[in-house]
Amino acid sequence: GDPRLKGISEAIRVVPNFPKPGIMFQDITAVVSNPKVFKDTVDIFVDRYRDMGISVVAGVEARGFIFAPAIALAIGAKFIPLRKPGKLPGEVISELYELEYGNDCLEMHLGAVQRGERALVIDDIVATGGTLSAAIRLLERAGAEVVECACVIGLREVEGRRRLDGKPLYILVEPRQDSSHIW
Ligand code: PRP
Ligand code: MG
Repeated sequence: GDPRLKGISEAIRVVPNFPKPGIMFQDITAVVSNPKVFKDTVDIFVDRYRDMGISVVAGVEARGFIFAPAIALAIGAKFIPLRKPGKLPGEVISELYELEYGNDCLEMHLGAVQRGERALVIDDIVATGGTLSAAIRLLERAGAEVVECACVIGLREVEGRRRLDGKPLYILVEPRQDSSHIW
């Protein structure tokens, strides 16, 4: 495989029982504080997406914002933020999604994408897939075509895939330590 993936995986720090008991938090701060590892991470995505006719890179607040703008700049696409509720000042469309306890919501500015644009969705990690699923719905309601969703971290065999409505999902590395309760 790609030798850069080992460096990325080794930079992820697992913090057990954060932010809640039973969760194995996958801390990516050391991925981006090491310039070589951060560049490797962005480069892998850029190599994959540069010739796929993507004009929109949508990043999911908050941790998706760490990676999405760098990828957008490198492939010559626009970056658009998918934000938590009440943060965007213009007219928005909203999509609710389920959390383990309760719901959350993502919003996108109306007019952020044009019908027919080819979009890539970026986040740091996929757990249940609920967040990415809401992101896909927002982009598709606006008439964009979601080419793929991509995350740095994810389990390859999880429900995440089922909840992505058949959209391709690209993952760089598995979570550090086996756990179905990642974050
Ligand atoms: C975390 C993570 C992903 C999402 C994955 O975001 O960054 O966006 O959960 O979980 P899912 O696949 O089950 O939907 P969260 O909103 O907790 O925090 P953040 O604002 O720090 O990104
Ligand atoms: Mg998040």
